[in-house]
Amino acid sequence: MNATDPLLRYTPLLPDGTTDAFLAACQRPLPRAVWVNPVRADDPPAVVASILRRCPEARPVPWWPHAFRLPADTTPGAWIEHRLGLIHVQEEATLWPAALLDLAPGDRVLDLCAAPGNKTAQIATRMGDRGLVVANEKVRGRLSQLRYNLERLGLSSVVVTRGDGNRFPIPATPFDHALVDAPCTCEGTTRKRGHREASDGFRRGLQSTQIGLLRRAIRCVRPGGTVVYATCTYDPEENERVLDAIRPDEAVIEPLSPPDGVRLAPGVPAWGGRQFRPDVVNAARLWPHLNDTGGFFVARLRRLG
Ligand SMILES: C[S@@+](CC[C@H](N)C(=O)[O-])C[C@H]1O[C@@H](n2cnc3c(N)ncnc32)[C@H](O)[C@@H]1O
Repeated sequence: MNATDPLLRYTPLLPDGTTDAFLAACQRPLPRAVWVNPVRADDPPAVVASILRRCPEARPVPWWPHAFRLPADTTPGAWIEHRLGLIHVQEEATLWPAALLDLAPGDRVLDLCAAPGNKTAQIATRMGDRGLVVANEKVRGRLSQLRYNLERLGLSSVVVTRGDGNRFPIPATPFDHALVDAPCTCEGTTRKRGHREASDGFRRGLQSTQIGLLRRAIRCVRPGGTVVYATCTYDPEENERVLDAIRPDEAVIEPLSPPDGVRLAPGVPAWGGRQFRPDVVNAARLWPHLNDTGGFFVARLRRLG
């Protein structure tokens, strides 16, 4: 163990006795993952068979249909199935948030921070490409990758908008559901990108953006609709503290049921001397050493009347 590793500040959050396993997992390469696109694939089981032919070590991912974990050195982005839009490459942990939205074909869904479009694509395919997904992104330079992915996957129910999600117009007819896959310090992506320590000032700025985005998403959704908040970071200041900024009469944070065999850590009730609203414990943190994924945080809120 490196006693100066900045991630050691999360030791109090880790399941007991797993700090060494956590730090070791952060150094290991991340497995790849792919899912079959049912909108392009006329015969999804045939695409599954071609994945298994190319990569017999492929193992099903528990939280998304026809999704598979592949060894870290696999290059599915170079397969013809990828070019043809039959499959999409997406990190395993990041597949879960879209699965938590209460989606039905024909719904209207807002994806407030959408580029490069992984979760937008999941939402649209889960609705059978029927209904409407508004994929909003603030950064102009990230729009082309978003549009490219949607086009390659053949999704026609998605409209792309560019703007600050904090100011997204409140629609006259509210959305059914919304996703806030917030910009964050990305501490959970060390297995892909290495660790870059963020300054305190940067963290504070992010937190106010994250709170603004979540508040806006809730205002855009009908009573009874779901709002999923997700980050790829461990820091409670970007996670539980953001959820705590939502008034309990605006939205409740619902319990999550992990798929069989998946190990989650609950949200923490307090951090840095601050006690959070009690239902933040219903959120979930995915530690990389527990399920061999990237690090992730997710919560599902339900808008109250
Ligand atoms: C975690 S990434 C989203 C990943 C995406 N949901 C996916 O699954 O492919 C966060 C995105 O939010 C964008 N962003 C940052 N600030 C924003 C804001 N104020 N409003 C909307 N988008 C923002 C970033 O440019 C980035 O593309």
